[in-house]
Amino acid sequence: MTPLLRMTNVQKAFGDNHVLKGIDLDVAKGEMVCLIGASGSGKSTLLRTINLLEPIDDGEILLDGVDISEPGLDPQPVRKRIGLVFQSYNLFPHMSATDNVMLAPRRLKGLSKAELEAPVTTLFERFGLADRMGHYPDQLSGGQQQRVAIIRALAMQPEVLLFDEITSALDPELVAEVLDVLRAVRAEGITMIFATHEMGFARELADKVCFLDRGRILEAGTPDQLFDAPKEERTRQFLSQVL
Ligand SMILES: Nc1ncnc2c1ncn2[C@@H]1O[C@H](COP(=O)(O)OP(=O)(O)OP(=O)(O)O)[C@@H](O)[C@H]1O
Ligand SMILES: [Mg+2]
Repeated sequence: MTPLLRMTNVQKAFGDNHVLKGIDLDVAKGEMVCLIGASGSGKSTLLRTINLLEPIDDGEILLDGVDISEPGLDPQPVRKRIGLVFQSYNLFPHMSATDNVMLAPRRLKGLSKAELEAPVTTLFERFGLADRMGHYPDQLSGGQQQRVAIIRALAMQPEVLLFDEITSALDPELVAEVLDVLRAVRAEGITMIFATHEMGFARELADKVCFLDRGRILEAGTPDQLFDAPKEERTRQFLSQVL
């Protein structure tokens, strides 16, 4: 079966800093892949190349068998299919939660507020925020803002969702809240790739965990394989520091 997303020998340098050194990664439809690794190992850069926020220097990124990494290709159609949620939620402060969520589907998909009302309300309900739809970001807690950012990404009905450290700015109680939300997203069958320092979460939810070390996927496997029986010494070292 063709993977939904396939990265082949993806290379990326910033000046003489060679950040991605030949990334090979296959992600099947509905799969949940977790990227772990030390700070600076290239997790965010890897996610940003998939979303076409960083052009790659060499290699290929295929979405459903089509090369999306061709230089000069319009990124907009790809970004409709692949959403990225950051740690900083970037909600517009002058817009209500609902307007924040509706902005991209209105602009990029040409949907009207009336058309969006029912599906967007359903999303807010599903994520426990039905009573916060008219609130502005500064009237929401950090965890609630993060959930609105996830709802905003889901409102585009992406095929793939990328999450970059979405829990690192949250206190532990809110982390639990956001992780519950990700379980719900997973239940929808959306393909997800996320970078995280939450090993417990990676272990519980991921189908596949990839350990990045200095720009390479040094080791990948099921959570059981990677956490209980890592093959590489570097992986063992990293895990002994974070577990
Ligand atoms: N826009 C950029 N310009 C120059 N260098 C960059 C840029 N973005 C990332 N880098 C460099 O690329 C390397 C990998 O960074 P990246 O943010 O991908 O790491 P990371 O694994 O996400 O780390 P962390 O766990 O701290 O988030 C770092 O050396 C970083 O300084
Ligand atoms: Mg990062």
